[in-house]
Amino acid sequence: MSATPAPSRRCVIWFGTPCSSERALLASGGWHIRAVSLSQTGGVGMRSEDIVIGVLDFRTCAGRDLAAAAEVAAAYRHLPLFALLPPVPDESDAQLRHALSRCRHRFPHPLDHADLLRQLASLQETSTPGGSDDAFACLLGESSAMLAMRATLRKFAPVDLPVLITGETGTGKEAAAHALHRLSPRNGHPFHAVNCGAIAPTLLQSELFGHERGAFTGATARRAGLFESAHRGTVFLDEIGDLPMEAQTSLLRVLQEGTIERIGSNQSIQVDVRVLAATHVDLEQAMAQGRFRSDLYYRLNVLRLSMPALRQREGDIELLAMHFLQEFRARHLIRARGYTAAACRALADFHWPGNVRELLNRVLRAAITSDNELIDCAELELPAPAESRAQQQDARLRDERETLVACLARSQYNVSACARLMKVSRVTVYRLCRKHRLQLESLR
Ligand SMILES: Nc1ncnc2c1ncn2[C@@H]1O[C@H](COP(=O)(O)OP(=O)(O)O)[C@@H](O)[C@H]1O
Ligand SMILES: [Mg+2]
Repeated sequence: MSATPAPSRRCVIWFGTPCSSERALLASGGWHIRAVSLSQTGGVGMRSEDIVIGVLDFRTCAGRDLAAAAEVAAAYRHLPLFALLPPVPDESDAQLRHALSRCRHRFPHPLDHADLLRQLASLQETSTPGGSDDAFACLLGESSAMLAMRATLRKFAPVDLPVLITGETGTGKEAAAHALHRLSPRNGHPFHAVNCGAIAPTLLQSELFGHERGAFTGATARRAGLFESAHRGTVFLDEIGDLPMEAQTSLLRVLQEGTIERIGSNQSIQVDVRVLAATHVDLEQAMAQGRFRSDLYYRLNVLRLSMPALRQREGDIELLAMHFLQEFRARHLIRARGYTAAACRALADFHWPGNVRELLNRVLRAAITSDNELIDCAELELPAPAESRAQQQDARLRDERETLVACLARSQYNVSACARLMKVSRVTVYRLCRKHRLQLESLR
């Protein structure tokens, strides 16, 4: 596997203490954070290739720190520096005013939390033209699960090791593999994806590793496999749990020795590829059942990226539904421009077994068929939330009545016997009969 030069990093030197949500947001945007106490004397080490900015956090400064803050502003003259103020800066806070006035030229527009994050986002775009943030265009979401996933992905991307991506179908495993490639030094070289479950086992070996002419019936010409043609790039093996045994052995060899052999040849060919693999099945179980080589499993499972299910991404469902609709609107003439309140609730309540892929499909179907400005539940083919609760209630009542009638019949309309059968008190049996308008006298 090839050695790679150290890429430039984006660093925030935070004079003060970022809160946990700020840390999560910065990490998901690829910023490394150095939290430095304001009283720290001496310089902060920086690599010249890094993109560095400073944040002077005035929110938690005690009085004596404020003087130190002005010193920081002066000492780091060449550092782009942002002043972060409390949400409602107390104008009467003479110390804060004084500290800011001493470095006014540095902070013409002090920021609050939201401004700062916006500033960082725009800095991010300019520092990576067409680069890293495009890589996340297919991995949208602001839920904490997605922020954490993107931060992990950024850490894994530049490391030249396999990554095992796990998650339910439609959670974005392939999108994540693509982003890993895009954010790695292999970007610009091929990215080849293959679904191991979608190709007949007899063809897969040749597809992946190639064959010589005459290696088998029908092999009329020599053919390079996917690993050879992905040289210096990335191979993404989707549904790795479906990889036949023979291919598992060959893959192990790629990972251990960086070589392949075409079918019909015993000559080793060097390949420089990074392997990413995804599975929605439990590989540990496949291994226990002898269907997956354990040595291969341990090679693949060094770095593990798990994609959260859509139902666990609070807030992301509506965000993605709006995004998919807007994207479609930009390319097609449609009326729909949003969702009814009931549709929003239905989207949030649904279980989403097919995750983001299912959401995308439902949104597109609704966008095409809807004649209204706001898409409703029926167009998304989702149960209306209020109705479904009423339906549940009806079903419960029906069940209760049926149980009661059956137990009364089995106990020959004797209330004590029926109560024993239902494991309730006699009073309850009477109450249930009244509730369901059953007249014992007329039934007996
Ligand atoms: N977080 C996301 N933001 C935007 N699009 C997404 C997101 N996750 C998945 N998608 C889209 O959903 C579809 C399914 O994603 P995919 O990566 O193929 O899922 P998987 O491989 O896990 O089945 C693709 O069209 C992908 O672009
Ligand atoms: Mg997939």
